[in-house]
Amino acid sequence: MTRAAVILAAGMGTRMKSAKPKVMHAVAGMPILGHVIAAARGAGVERIVVVTAPAMQDVRHYAASLGAESAIQDKQLGTGHAALCAQSMLRDFAGAVLVNNGDMPMARAGMMAESLASAEKQGLSIVAFRPADAAAYGRVIVGADGLLDRIVEFKDANAEERAVDLCCAGTYSAADARKFFAWASKLGNNNAQGEYYLPEVPLVAKEDGVRSAVTVADEITVMGVNSRAELADAELQMQKRLRAAALANGVGMMAPETVFLSHDTKLESDVQIGPYVVFGPGVTVRNGAEIKSHSVLEGAEVQAGAIIGPHARLRPGAVIGEGAHIGNFVEVKNSTIGKGTNANHLAYLGDATVGDGANIGAGTITCNYDGFDKHRTTIGSGAFIGSDTALVAPVTVGDGAYVGAGSVITKAVAKDALAVTRAEQKEIPGWAEKFRSRKKAEKGKK
Ligand code: UD1
Ligand code: MG
Repeated sequence: MTRAAVILAAGMGTRMKSAKPKVMHAVAGMPILGHVIAAARGAGVERIVVVTAPAMQDVRHYAASLGAESAIQDKQLGTGHAALCAQSMLRDFAGAVLVNNGDMPMARAGMMAESLASAEKQGLSIVAFRPADAAAYGRVIVGADGLLDRIVEFKDANAEERAVDLCCAGTYSAADARKFFAWASKLGNNNAQGEYYLPEVPLVAKEDGVRSAVTVADEITVMGVNSRAELADAELQMQKRLRAAALANGVGMMAPETVFLSHDTKLESDVQIGPYVVFGPGVTVRNGAEIKSHSVLEGAEVQAGAIIGPHARLRPGAVIGEGAHIGNFVEVKNSTIGKGTNANHLAYLGDATVGDGANIGAGTITCNYDGFDKHRTTIGSGAFIGSDTALVAPVTVGDGAYVGAGSVITKAVAKDALAVTRAEQKEIPGWAEKFRSRKKAEKGKK
């Protein structure tokens, strides 16, 4: 059976108090919507339609970048109305449809696949869960036969219904998308919020002789994000999930609760991560490399056996070669660092290519920016850059060359040469003694 998904994202998310649409807020470095789309794809969904509000151009661009289509809901008249807005996009689609809230960052493919499979058997299926605090979630009332009786929104529920601990997750599946839209088009809005409620689709279906099945998911998988506090909680839960997966894959972490991963962080086995390390998007760390405490990495690749940090910063385009060392307060951006090269202290390597086995002294700076353009620095294999060197790019230091400490290098340095640009050292014997006696005599006069 072919499967499509409708993801509801047109709500303003007013409880977030943000100019940014709710589904664009990131969890583990990826917008909430991206997590929902990824889960739907994992559930074998071929077509995805994201329902957006007219002003949400950025949401539509983001959806398109993930291969999803978009529909527009002109006015936010409720989740049932939102789902119906995807009907014209799917008019030729005859398979099963999953309709999912767009604010569910912890959604898993398995939860969605189970819901779809249940609908493919029963005709219609909804996902329920038992949160520790049922708060304002819709309440799920199950009949004696185990099938759904009805879902009641919190604001419409009486005391008895509010006492029910089974809640509506915001995931709905139907075996036949066309039937689903036909039911959704019959929803009314005579309720506490004057909205068309998606959770009332099963009531309409019941009149059509179709009862909805109920599958139960765990609380974390289906948690909805409606406020900043819930966003922070989702981040915490996602970090726990990502850390657990890394540990299970053979990554060592002495304090996993302090390590922050991105949704796409790739850590191979025997990678060792120290406390308080932060990964932004796009990082790969190969076997046996070590990331010491307080380092921040983003868009970087660390080859096998390299040692990063403590307190190092790898920015996008940093590629650190096998067994290389990038030490404390060293920043690397858009640069390739060769095998076994060391930059152990206080340096900036930007737009540089550094060969194998080079030594970058403390305080070395690539002066890559002239206020208008970025320029490249090339440092050969086996080169030795003395401490406190400024390399004014574009510039090249040949293989095996030495640069004396404190130099400002503006011209190419040949292979195996020594370049020094600092002034020659002068020495005046006894100068300090004379200076001190003169100063003391002056003070004595005052
Ligand atoms: C909804 C459910 C509730 C369930 C909860 C689970 C309804 C009426 N209630 O409540 O039963 O327990 O999710 O998290 O559905 N949206 C639109 N257009 C609209 C309104 C909303 O696209 O006109 C989108 C939102 O962007 C959001 C999703 O639908 O992604 C859910 O809307 P939200 O306002 O978060 O619903 P809840 O109050 O959380
Ligand atoms: Mg919600």
